[in-house]
Amino acid sequence: MTQTNIPQADVPANSAPAVVPKGEKGYNAYLLKRCLRYFAPYKLKILLAILGMIAAAAADGTIAYLVKPAMDDVFIRRDETALIVIPLAFLAVLFIKAGGRLTQNYMMQSCGLLVLERLRDELYNKIIKMPVAFYERAQVGMLMSRVINDVGTIRDSLPAIIMIVRQVLIMAALLVVVYKQNWQLAIFSTIVLPLAFFPFFYFGRRLRKLGRKSQSVLAGASVVLQEIFSGIRIIKAFATEKKEGERFSKENRNILKIALKRALAGEFSSASMEMVIAVGTALVFYFGASKVLSGEMTQGEFFSFVTGLAMIYEPVRKLNTANNSIQGALAGAERVFEVLDSDAYIPESGGQLELKDSFEELRFENVTFGYSERSPALLNINLTLRKGERLALVGPSGAGKSTFVSLLPRFYDPGSGCVTLNGVDLRAYTLPSLRTSMSIVSQDNFLFNCSVYDNIAYGQKKPDAEDPQALREQVMSAARAAYAHDFIMEMPEGYATVIGERGVKLSGGQKQRITIARAIAKNAPLLILDEATSALDSESEKIVQRALENLMQGRTSIIIAHRLSTVLSSDRILVMDKGEIAAEGTHAQLIAASPLYARLYRMQFGAQEGASQNLQG
Ligand SMILES: Nc1ncnc2c1ncn2[C@@H]1O[C@H](COP(=O)(O)OP(=O)(O)O)[C@@H](O)[C@H]1O
Ligand SMILES: [Mg+2]
Repeated sequence: MTQTNIPQADVPANSAPAVVPKGEKGYNAYLLKRCLRYFAPYKLKILLAILGMIAAAAADGTIAYLVKPAMDDVFIRRDETALIVIPLAFLAVLFIKAGGRLTQNYMMQSCGLLVLERLRDELYNKIIKMPVAFYERAQVGMLMSRVINDVGTIRDSLPAIIMIVRQVLIMAALLVVVYKQNWQLAIFSTIVLPLAFFPFFYFGRRLRKLGRKSQSVLAGASVVLQEIFSGIRIIKAFATEKKEGERFSKENRNILKIALKRALAGEFSSASMEMVIAVGTALVFYFGASKVLSGEMTQGEFFSFVTGLAMIYEPVRKLNTANNSIQGALAGAERVFEVLDSDAYIPESGGQLELKDSFEELRFENVTFGYSERSPALLNINLTLRKGERLALVGPSGAGKSTFVSLLPRFYDPGSGCVTLNGVDLRAYTLPSLRTSMSIVSQDNFLFNCSVYDNIAYGQKKPDAEDPQALREQVMSAARAAYAHDFIMEMPEGYATVIGERGVKLSGGQKQRITIARAIAKNAPLLILDEATSALDSESEKIVQRALENLMQGRTSIIIAHRLSTVLSSDRILVMDKGEIAAEGTHAQLIAASPLYARLYRMQFGAQEGASQNLQG
């Protein structure tokens, strides 16, 4: 995934409201405001939704109104026109109601889904810009869960708020009616309303906490699943399906537990609201009925009042449901914004300078680097590499060879000292121009789940104007140079064959040759090989070795070698030990001067001597 084609998120970071830290006053309002900000671009849709809502509500009112003429005109007056008009009127009103509801629901849903899409893009863009070190700490499943699950809950925030506004308005209107009818009785009935807000807040908090937990157990399960599926060969080889199954079951059970707790809290929340409502109703009955008995009120008045009252409590119930979704949304929002706002890792950023000149000189000046504070992986490295040179790095495992080369594409930056290319600090160059100037082939040969052709053409610079036939020729000649053309042609669909995920349909040697073809097609001036053949059997290693020779033609290369022939054919050898350059020179010089090299030579390369002579002959 290159840097260049990242779509930019619509919401600029600097327009975000001031961040209110968790646990401080105004935090909830801040979270909510921030969720709602995502709905802002869809004002027209929201307006349409509200119009739909009004139409549906008006239709409901009209239906109630039509009951009167239906009774009076059709049945009592036996009006024949009314017999036709009234059903038609009902029909029209019901159609309007259906249309209104459809508009309201679809518009709301489409807003929610658009917001989701945007949040997912925003999260993706935040995460993809993270430095390599970030991905080493974060678990892939966890990141996926943030992008897919946590974002989903936020969708409910606006519809729930609209619901709340609507219910509050209905409640207010009904209160006016009830107070007008009989204010004394109304006081009794609404005196308990504040009590109804107690479960609202108490269970709201609890539901939020459970919402948070639920997102985090979902993420935990994603992590486990991701690990199990990507390590499936090891799991099957060690016959540990059962053990891993238990690990998944545990996560799965956690999801269930939290979901049940959430369901229970939701039910308790509505049940306690019902109890409060029951208290209100009992009070009204007692005081109302005694007024009827004492003659202060007629039975008709009493029942019409109770009906109005029942209607007030309905929005209260709905408020509770809406609150539950808002709490879920806020719990998800919290986790999403946590990632968006996280400054634990600074996004990668390159300089302004385009690296256009050809490779002239690479220089390490007093470079020290450590993955952690404790022990440096590279210590005081000084080195100059000139155009056309072939440099070999040897050293025991853990010496820092891979770390050394990972500074070049700036996967990591030196802790102190600097790396310069053509006399300019690497940090001054734009990341895409720096990274396209080098090809890296390592033993971890990742291929994308697409055609062989697209895999080889992956890093190719392709200006649109360029002749597609010429591009094709380039890909084919890269494949030929990598000794991959022949086996590619034998595959069922040749270059169009789709490589299964992680390239499982190819042998290790074949995969490696495709990655080499990809590096050749990229045609970068600097070539970095990190034990590119160490994972291969000796038969395919020979072919890959020849492919690599083709790749190194005319390029400056740094080769982390485990083969004698590669070491012997390089201009200079660097012996690394414990993060330092222990010795430097040609093979002959080092055999005499460096005991470590002599030992490595005996242990690592000694056995290969025969094989490498074969290759050279
Ligand atoms: N991603 C990493 N995070 C933390 N430590 C690392 C990481 N990669 C390598 N190291 C440590 O840095 C040292 C050098 O490792 P590396 O450069 O991979 O050695 P080599 O390639 O020579 O075998 C080792 O001690 C290793 O444990
Ligand atoms: Mg290594």
